[in-house]
Amino acid sequence: MLRAIVPGVAAGSGGLPQWNCACPVCAAVRSGQAGAPQTQSSIVVSADGERWVLINASPDIRQQFAATPALHPRAVRHSPLSAVLVTNADVDHVAGLLSLREAQPFALYATRRVHSVLDANAIFNVVNREHVPRRPVQLNESMPILDAAGEATGICIETFTVPGKVALWLEDPNAERFGSVAEDTIGVAIRAEGSEARLFYLPGCADVPDSLKARFKPTDTVLFDGTTYTEHEMAEAGVGQKSASRMGHLVMSGPQGTIARLADVPLARRLFIHINNTNPVWLPDSEARREIARQGWDLAFDGMELTL
Ligand code: MLT
Ligand code: MN
Ligand code: ZN
Repeated sequence: MLRAIVPGVAAGSGGLPQWNCACPVCAAVRSGQAGAPQTQSSIVVSADGERWVLINASPDIRQQFAATPALHPRAVRHSPLSAVLVTNADVDHVAGLLSLREAQPFALYATRRVHSVLDANAIFNVVNREHVPRRPVQLNESMPILDAAGEATGICIETFTVPGKVALWLEDPNAERFGSVAEDTIGVAIRAEGSEARLFYLPGCADVPDSLKARFKPTDTVLFDGTTYTEHEMAEAGVGQKSASRMGHLVMSGPQGTIARLADVPLARRLFIHINNTNPVWLPDSEARREIARQGWDLAFDGMELTL
């Protein structure tokens, strides 16, 4: 059995509400008219309810651990955290590593590319390799996640590259596709050892090629990049000029959006995660929210639990 908890469901650059934003959604959340505040995207998974694997270390990690009893220590110095996997090097997925620097053993998994980014940034040396071995994921292979000591956690993953781009803070304005390479962004299929039910987590994904569609089975639950509802909503909200595709994300709506692109793919459950604070789906009475529900999609939310 696979247990998953969603500590954070909001996109990077701020969570919900964002500290410096009073767009209609942030304002509605701040005034208590549109649901609870949400922290930045991550999930934790466990096969035994004892040892947990965190996927993406968000800047809100301290608050997320405090809000998640399964992650509380059970001894003077202890953590149920056995391993961390990061799916890209964006700030919202790696900054939380800096808060995990307390000589607590866990294993750190990422692509070789993302490891090279962390290795090149001396500040990440606070996550001491003596306690935290850094291990590359083997793309397109089922592999067990092991803890720092090399013991199996009971969690198996298969990672695969997805269309995306290099982390915002690593963009090279003079290079083609800002210097992005395939291993900059991965998706992950997670299962408990001995079980076939899979949870897909794709918090950053810029397209749905047939090769990605072919990975999904009708028994799979999918947590998919829900950054924006429309391509230009950030500009329309007056919060920035970047389109969804320029940021390496696929929109929810429209003929080329995620909902349409996955409509003919049978799935057990489809949920959005990594949702930006400009996205009108946050507003319970919005047309966008009604439309995603009509199309069979839900929003994940902070504290959501899934059992597969
Ligand atoms: C993204 O998903 O596009 C990034 O998290 C944005 C950011 O780092 O601010
Ligand atoms: Mn992000
Ligand atoms: Zn906002």
